[in-house]
Amino acid sequence: MCGIVGYVGGKNAQDFLISGLKRLEYRGYDSAGIVTLDENGEATLLRAKGKISNLEEKLAKNKREDKIGIGHTRWATHGEPSEINAHPHQAGDIYLVHNGIIENYKELREHLTEHEFKSQTDTEVLAALVNSFYGNGKYPLVNAVVQALKLVKGTYGIAVLSTKNPDEIVVARSGSPLVIGVGTGETLIASDASALVGHTKQAIYLNDGEVARITKDSVEIKTLNAEPVSAKVEEIETNLAAIQKGGYEHFLLKEIMEQPKSLAETLRGRVNLEQGVVHLGGPGLSEQELRKIKHLIIVGCGTAYHAGLLASYYIEQFTPEITVETVIASEYRYRNAYIPENSVALIVSQSGETADTLACLREIKKQGTKTIGIVNAIGSTIAREVDGGTYVHVGPEISVASTKAFTSQVMAMVMFGLTIAQAKGAKPGSLKLYVEEIAKMPEMIEKTLKDVEGEVKKAAEKYKKYEHAIYLGRDTAYPTAMEGALKLKEISYVDANAYAFGELKHGPLALIDDRFFEVALVPEGPLYDKAISNVQEVLARGGHMLVITDTDFNLPVDDVIKISGELKIFSPILMNLVSQLFAYYMTVAKGYNVDQPRNLAKSVTVE
Ligand code: G6P
Repeated sequence: MCGIVGYVGGKNAQDFLISGLKRLEYRGYDSAGIVTLDENGEATLLRAKGKISNLEEKLAKNKREDKIGIGHTRWATHGEPSEINAHPHQAGDIYLVHNGIIENYKELREHLTEHEFKSQTDTEVLAALVNSFYGNGKYPLVNAVVQALKLVKGTYGIAVLSTKNPDEIVVARSGSPLVIGVGTGETLIASDASALVGHTKQAIYLNDGEVARITKDSVEIKTLNAEPVSAKVEEIETNLAAIQKGGYEHFLLKEIMEQPKSLAETLRGRVNLEQGVVHLGGPGLSEQELRKIKHLIIVGCGTAYHAGLLASYYIEQFTPEITVETVIASEYRYRNAYIPENSVALIVSQSGETADTLACLREIKKQGTKTIGIVNAIGSTIAREVDGGTYVHVGPEISVASTKAFTSQVMAMVMFGLTIAQAKGAKPGSLKLYVEEIAKMPEMIEKTLKDVEGEVKKAAEKYKKYEHAIYLGRDTAYPTAMEGALKLKEISYVDANAYAFGELKHGPLALIDDRFFEVALVPEGPLYDKAISNVQEVLARGGHMLVITDTDFNLPVDDVIKISGELKIFSPILMNLVSQLFAYYMTVAKGYNVDQPRNLAKSVTVE
């Protein structure tokens, strides 16, 4: 959601800005723009609605050799997607790009009578506000920005240029990420480190409440209260290959196929097969603290929420003496929930920037509850604000629909649960099967993907005529069904919903007709027979059913996709691979945009 890039140095700024914005395309946007300044401060502002290719068409007619500039991809919040509402916004000498939301923009706008507003955005208000404190260049730009930000309520990551000082950029953040890339004779900025990959490995992550003045060879950071901050330079770990398609047609397929490797990264150094135990260093809890845990609260949105829900089923299996509650962040943040003593909260987020999840983290911390991050993006806000954490290390996930992160989030949380069970003195051998299956997962994922891809592709062709789908499962196959339905709806726009098998008779059974098809997840196990009865209920009402199972299946359903039955506990996670591939091939068959589904963003940094 919204992206920022910026450049000051010796090279062509337009080139970096466009390539940087393309790297951020995956986050989701509806318009884009850049502004560059020549050495006299003359500005070239280019903006376009829609894809960056539209902006490139304008650029072809307006090539400049400018060495400083800022750019933005916008995801509309205030005002429709249009060229006029696209960033950068100008007010007097000031050009400004902004991620986030200025909540008191209406109030501020009323006082800015000297500026003639052209857009409906909150960002133009901020540009005008900075300009009002700038005095036509009488005051340092950084001071004008600070004065303006002191009046602002809301969230922001901003980058600001002035035509009066064409050798500096001022950036600031509060609730919306900003990374400064330190190069040789050049300084780059981005809202996401992936835009900097290939340009520099040295990055400074700005903290909330900090503002920085940047030139081609300097970065000066201070707080809004003018206290100097000494910059901590960190290494960007991502390499170019990780953010390219690597021969696949879509990032989504690449990320699905990457799972044997990405999960192996999550497990690396954390599983001791010989002793039948796992070791998670990141959470930073002592044995005694682990033993005291009585409640786990797992917080997330979208796929991260489903990962939490699935993990909760597993954790309950082997740590019966604790309660696990998984909650949707956007709901939990406004609930008056009581958090009992001896609770620990797991904050689950691929991007580490989701606004609702971050807000929950802050609420939970206020209550004095220990927070543990289950995060992918290194250096992200959630990763930095939690008390301890476990990175899942799956590498950049570019496609909007989350796949490899889900698998690793579940396994990381299961490992955290096992760490608690170990500390609480689980009976020797009782966790052995879990640990063995965890260690086997990467290999089983590889096998499953190979075994089923062809069949799934055919099934997708067959079912693409439907506009409605029902996913069904029991026990651990239920959260897995929820995740399968989410994948299908978010990329192939099929109206897909998941139900626990046991809920069928309480409503969803009324839906069964020729407009719908059903996907049933039926693993072998104690609830197998019950699931079979439910399948029969659907068949008796004329359902059109695709069954995903790991055992023999003899009912006359439309299609059966069988995966290996080798894993007894984590089989539903392998079934989820089938759902991922199914959603992928449905989307390809329908001809939709796989990696950037309409209306969605990868990283939802506004509420
Ligand atoms: C967005 C993405 C989803 C993701 C959710 C939570 O909706 O499109 O794929 O599951 O946000 O994101 P997070 O980064 O917090 O895991």
